[in-house]
Amino acid sequence: MSIKAVVLEEFKKVYGESTGAKVYFAPGRVNLIGEHTDYNGGHVFPCALSIGTYGVACPREDRVLRFYSVNFPQLGVIESSLDDLVPDPKAEWTNYPKGVMWAFEQRGMKIPTGMDLVLYGNIPNGSGLSSSASVEVLTGFILRDLFGFDVTNQDLALIGQFAENKYNMVNCGIMDQFAIAMGKKDHAIFLDTADLSFEYAPIKLDGAKIVIACSNKKRGLADSKYNERRSECEEALAELQTVVAAENLGALDEETFEKYSAVIGSDIRKKRAKHAVYENRRTMRAVEALKDGDVVAFGQLMNASHVSLRDDYEVTGIELDTLVEEAWKIDGVIGSRMTGAGFGGCTVSIVMDEAVDEFIQKVGEAYLAKIGYAANFYVVDIGDGPCVL
Ligand code: GLA
Repeated sequence: MSIKAVVLEEFKKVYGESTGAKVYFAPGRVNLIGEHTDYNGGHVFPCALSIGTYGVACPREDRVLRFYSVNFPQLGVIESSLDDLVPDPKAEWTNYPKGVMWAFEQRGMKIPTGMDLVLYGNIPNGSGLSSSASVEVLTGFILRDLFGFDVTNQDLALIGQFAENKYNMVNCGIMDQFAIAMGKKDHAIFLDTADLSFEYAPIKLDGAKIVIACSNKKRGLADSKYNERRSECEEALAELQTVVAAENLGALDEETFEKYSAVIGSDIRKKRAKHAVYENRRTMRAVEALKDGDVVAFGQLMNASHVSLRDDYEVTGIELDTLVEEAWKIDGVIGSRMTGAGFGGCTVSIVMDEAVDEFIQKVGEAYLAKIGYAANFYVVDIGDGPCVL
């Protein structure tokens, strides 16, 4: 049975009827390089995945909202209303779709009726492959499709980010929602977060695959550490701005940074800003390398990105470091690094076809031996953005 048929069946089981229901999909994302640059006005290079979130939606005649997730059956049907778009921990995961509905209304797009929804995600739980951004973009896509709102996919990304920032109070940048809303099969998105200009770059990995290793580490303090990094960068930028004109850290090249970095009053802030500046330039260089067909150089820049995230930005931890450092030991690994916010989540590696099995076995064994619980591995494909199925 196709996933479409399965989720329609679930919808029927939960709500008794599936006439008039439509099925939608929005991907997850993985970032190839350009980490912790998106809130510093730098470049990122993510792609959408062929795994993601499926949604079945059917409009109602009243203002009631009913939500059910196949991933959280123990929560049953969570009921709400368009008149109750207020964040509430008791609303569990439905705070994500509700946040997007709220964000539409904030922009003057009144949602005319409630709806019944069933969601199912095949993004591994807590992996850092952006399941929440996937749900946000999916919700925006459904609202546009059902009610004809005049918004572009790029707007859906911005609305999703706004909902995440202001309704769910997670201070993320634009990368995740943008990668998901604008995804294109077999392409990564080279996005300049300073002005949202972007370009699709074909990812032709002849003879190699993208492998994701999920650390399964609980991301306990991730949000507060994330916010701490953001403010360290903001402070460093303010210090730099007393001596050099730069709108953000992404506007600086390495030389200019080194010339003026002494003005930054703490070593920690200097390291954070250094990462943001160097990672941005690395990302620009990585895309150039790819355009020249130099996958090896691309891989080396991925490795350098990890070192910088480990030593200067300090967002890796023993779990992600073990996955990456074990990966580096294997012949046929072109590049490997942590991806996403860090502090847990997963790594992304480019691995030659013939080395994939060995990679999964050896990295898996070493991880289990050192960390005490297992990692999960996924060979992934780059997919398209949201769609109606
Ligand atoms: C999370 C955020 C993104 C980005 C990354 C780090 O995924 O949601 O906006 O900042 O971390 O690159």
